[in-house]
Amino acid sequence: MSRFFSFILYFSLFSFHFSFLQARERQNFDEGWLFVLADSAQMSQKDYNDGAWRSLNLPHDWSIEGDFNAGNPAGAGGGALPGGIGWYRKHFTISPKDKGQRFYIEFDGVYMNSTVYVNGKELGTRPYGFISFSYDITDALNFSGDNVIAVRVDNHDQPNCRWYSGSGIYRHTYLLKTNPTHVTQWGTYVTAQLNDNMKRADIAVEVQVEGSQKATKVRAIFLDEFGKKVGKSQATLAKSNHKNEQGKTVSTFKADLTLSNPILWSIERPALYKVVTEVMNGSKVVDSYETTFGVRTFKFDAKKGFSLNGKSMKINGVCQHHDLGCLGAAINEDALHRQLQILKDMGCNGIRCSHNPPAPELLAMCDSMGFIVMDEAFDMWHRSKTKYDYAHYFDQWFERDLTDFVLRDRNHPSILMWSTGNEVLEQWSSNDGTELSIEQANLILNFGHDASTLANGNEKSVNSLLAERLSDIVRQLDATRPITAGCNEPNPNNHLFKSNAFDIIGYNYHNGNVADVPKNFPGKPFIFTESNSSLATRGFYVMPSDSIIESPKEWWRPYTDPTFMCSAYDNQRASWGNLQEETWDLIKHNDFVTGQYIWTGWDYIGEPTPYGFPARSSYFGIIDLAGFPKDTYYFYQSEWTDKPTLHLFPHWNWIEGQTVDLWCYYNQADEVELFVNGKSKGTRKKGEHTFHVMWRVPFEPGEVRVVARKNGEEVRSQTIRTAGQPHHLRLTTDKTSIAANGTSLAFVTVEVVDKDGNLCPHADTQIFFEVEGRATIAGVDNGCQTSMERFKDNKRKAFNGKCLVVLQSTKKAGTIRLTTKSYELPAATLSISSK
Ligand code: GAL
Repeated sequence: MSRFFSFILYFSLFSFHFSFLQARERQNFDEGWLFVLADSAQMSQKDYNDGAWRSLNLPHDWSIEGDFNAGNPAGAGGGALPGGIGWYRKHFTISPKDKGQRFYIEFDGVYMNSTVYVNGKELGTRPYGFISFSYDITDALNFSGDNVIAVRVDNHDQPNCRWYSGSGIYRHTYLLKTNPTHVTQWGTYVTAQLNDNMKRADIAVEVQVEGSQKATKVRAIFLDEFGKKVGKSQATLAKSNHKNEQGKTVSTFKADLTLSNPILWSIERPALYKVVTEVMNGSKVVDSYETTFGVRTFKFDAKKGFSLNGKSMKINGVCQHHDLGCLGAAINEDALHRQLQILKDMGCNGIRCSHNPPAPELLAMCDSMGFIVMDEAFDMWHRSKTKYDYAHYFDQWFERDLTDFVLRDRNHPSILMWSTGNEVLEQWSSNDGTELSIEQANLILNFGHDASTLANGNEKSVNSLLAERLSDIVRQLDATRPITAGCNEPNPNNHLFKSNAFDIIGYNYHNGNVADVPKNFPGKPFIFTESNSSLATRGFYVMPSDSIIESPKEWWRPYTDPTFMCSAYDNQRASWGNLQEETWDLIKHNDFVTGQYIWTGWDYIGEPTPYGFPARSSYFGIIDLAGFPKDTYYFYQSEWTDKPTLHLFPHWNWIEGQTVDLWCYYNQADEVELFVNGKSKGTRKKGEHTFHVMWRVPFEPGEVRVVARKNGEEVRSQTIRTAGQPHHLRLTTDKTSIAANGTSLAFVTVEVVDKDGNLCPHADTQIFFEVEGRATIAGVDNGCQTSMERFKDNKRKAFNGKCLVVLQSTKKAGTIRLTTKSYELPAATLSISSK
């Protein structure tokens, strides 16, 4: 490119972006908050003395800073960490020059029951802890001095969640300044229809503009993934001065564009487009709003399964809760990215946001990394699952929350289906006193259903009608995606299935009923909204490995085992669940099964089935809470990826003469052969329905070696040696350089190894961390489900040989030096840079 041309390109890009900046300013509002874990009505007042409060930056989760305790009302199911009531305050100024502009404060998520005040004026309350919301604060502002925003967060009544929720303003916040004429929050809707053999995309953009319609014009500028302009279109006024879903008086504009040979969004190449919607007053751009979208087509077929852009594939997904291990619920982009990248490397291609609206960053990453998302609204509807949960607010809030959820998320190309609920108790009717009242039932019946639907000898129950009502809300806002829900009652008489609510039949578990799906639900596609609930502790093995441990045997019976561990051979599961290999076998060999979302990708805090306290985090993950893969990770890698995989386990430190089961996952080889101290123990091959091989051998110290062969040639091998005494600590980091922005993270793995570098598989060495330079410790973990050590600390015991320390950058660039010390082993150091 000539210099002149690059100059012109640079200049035009620059001036283009400059015009965006003039129009709206959306400023991250996370820094400089004050916090106290206490409650007083006075704390909302402008002149309240907050001088002694703790300073912090958001996102913040106060529960993760606490200690595990059996007495914490969340219980082990909620992670045994404290809740309570907390207040946040922040002082800020607004320039007098901005009088006449509109100001909004946006929250991506506050757990839970938040009430927001600006300068003492109450702006509103949002009970649902997973929903995003905003307030227009313009009329409460003081343009010539200090302003105070105060947020009361009430997470006192517990349990209110079946897993760890975290407490506080745990997602990002923004201050938005706009012209009085502006695009409303989540005010664009972009759809892309592929036609002409996928060679043409017909793109339609709908824009909601609030404010004066006089002389208002809207135009849409389309950019490809490199920021290059690919089209421009003038919008037409479709409807003026009406109320939008959020009750604002707005006008709707529509623009469209035909795109030839679009680059399609896919798992392998998640191409993204952007549309910049400019609101013009005469020739002046008064607002500019960017929306990311993708062009793709997909199909859930009742016989052939799932296809994306015409290519048949399985949805190989996992369910995820929102916590980030030792960082708690406080969102951090690096931590989230690490979760997704480790899953992607396993071959996972789907995420179910179980069971609530996720952080917006998760969806943006799924868009750009290529995951198929099931976006889920609720874990309960009207009927409670825990004493103080959202069911108490459901009747009053579900329409608003569901609407906001779809409006916020519907432009994400990664979302390919909506779920309105998980295992809601409305699948059944019962007389447990939580039925809807007549008034509530009438409300649902009369809203959104025309008379003919109701008059026609309708036998649908209130529960079925509620399921329909929720789907109607979603469909009205987005008809481009199918709707499902996670159902654990497979009978077609399930009240939810009896409704017309779902486009896809979604089962949680119940593998044994899947063969009947085509007969029971003719013409309906099928997905495992949730599968497996298999259980494992990293590095812990119960033999014989071919006998299955059901724990608990029945869900109402407590399961006990003094180890508080679960076996990491794929041989332990909850009674309602299945082993990892079983479900995959079923999916792989049945075309109509579109795929699954495994419970779960990562361990999460809370729900330590099959145990109670002191277990306080889950055993379901394929990856442990610290991010260390358990062995079944490699089973999926061998089946779901083209990456050459050979994984022999367990470790080779047993009692002399003990019988040990050795398993191996492999791919891209015809057979594998095991050698113990050089002696062959036989060659094995996987079968059509078995995805691992096994040898049963007596332990003798030394080494085990597995060799994989293709066409008789050795293609790869793996050796595990009996580890000697712990000798030193090995430190490895996922990044050698992090950004000096105060939020970037480096995840450092600490391994206890012998003198030859073999991992000591039983080591539980107490390790102390010292950090010098431009970082602090954000958290520590080791993946052990029963550890009572704090997540926010400068020390951790190794668990089965490993632990993790998370370093967080400061805003100053420079060197970061981590030193690990222990009582027995020499100190180790690792340096990274912050730039
Ligand atoms: C399911 C439920 C999940 C989780 C899982 C544990 O029934 O949907 O949230 O509780 O069981 O097995």
